[in-house]
Amino acid sequence: MSPYSNVVPEPQADPGDLAFFADAMRARTGVQLPDTKRALIYRRLVPRLRELGLGSFAAYRARLADQADPEWDVVVNALTTNHSRFFREIHHFKLLDAHLEKLLNARAKRIRLWSAACAGGQEPYSMAILLLRALGLRRGVDARVLATDVDNTALDTAAAAIYPPEDIGRLPRFARQYLKQGADKRFTLDERPRKLVTFKRHNLIGGEWPMKGPFDAIFCRNMLIYLSTADQAKVVRRLVDLLSPGGILCLGHSETVRGSLPLERLDTASAYVRI
Ligand SMILES: C[S@@+](CC[C@H](N)C(=O)[O-])C[C@H]1O[C@@H](n2cnc3c(N)ncnc32)[C@H](O)[C@@H]1O
Repeated sequence: MSPYSNVVPEPQADPGDLAFFADAMRARTGVQLPDTKRALIYRRLVPRLRELGLGSFAAYRARLADQADPEWDVVVNALTTNHSRFFREIHHFKLLDAHLEKLLNARAKRIRLWSAACAGGQEPYSMAILLLRALGLRRGVDARVLATDVDNTALDTAAAAIYPPEDIGRLPRFARQYLKQGADKRFTLDERPRKLVTFKRHNLIGGEWPMKGPFDAIFCRNMLIYLSTADQAKVVRRLVDLLSPGGILCLGHSETVRGSLPLERLDTASAYVRI
């Protein structure tokens, strides 16, 4: 018997198979995975093929013949990039802090914030921590954060609210009381910010947007870069429709608003106010 007879061969993929998954990802989420990302598609999906005992990507394609098969969620979850961090791009949180103060000084009774590509919850929980700081001892303000993402494994991470040190980064001093480090070095988020956030699965490329708004601030950061310029414009237009006049929109540092919209660019990078 050959000494290699018990070695399981690597699942086979031809360029057409990998292009099939790139096309499916674009159709389902708008996320573009150009030819240079073929190795990434292979790397991210191959563990699932092994789990299913499939020897080739062609066999996985055949397994996915039904467009409504829940297995498609596994594909989408594997091919999204969920990198995030608490208080990432701190200038947006400083802007939000000032905006919340303005709203509360004007005696706002209802405050709604939305993190529209929330990954594992680091961004909406940072927004919730700011809300807690802004509310202070004030009572009678109905304040909440909506957090959505297309990836339901990211939403599971958000629900667990336990983070490795690399997701924490440098926290502002006022935020430190809400994240406690355990013996295993991971940080657990306090229930006070957790209570302010509602997580829902939502595809920004999907037809139906159930949220009605209006929102006082929307963060949609580091997701638009993966979309075509036409899809970016569509998503931003729909976000702007859900912003209150005076509400703020924050995009990722390399993302921008296209076309003419009722927005004024702020001095803070990639931040806009609804006019
Ligand atoms: C790099 S993370 C950004 C996380 C966070 N906003 C930040 O800036 O730290 C991008 C997120 O966009 C999500 N995403 C990708 N396509 C999406 C879509 N069509 N609808 C909603 N979320 C999507 C991914 O699942 C991922 O969690």
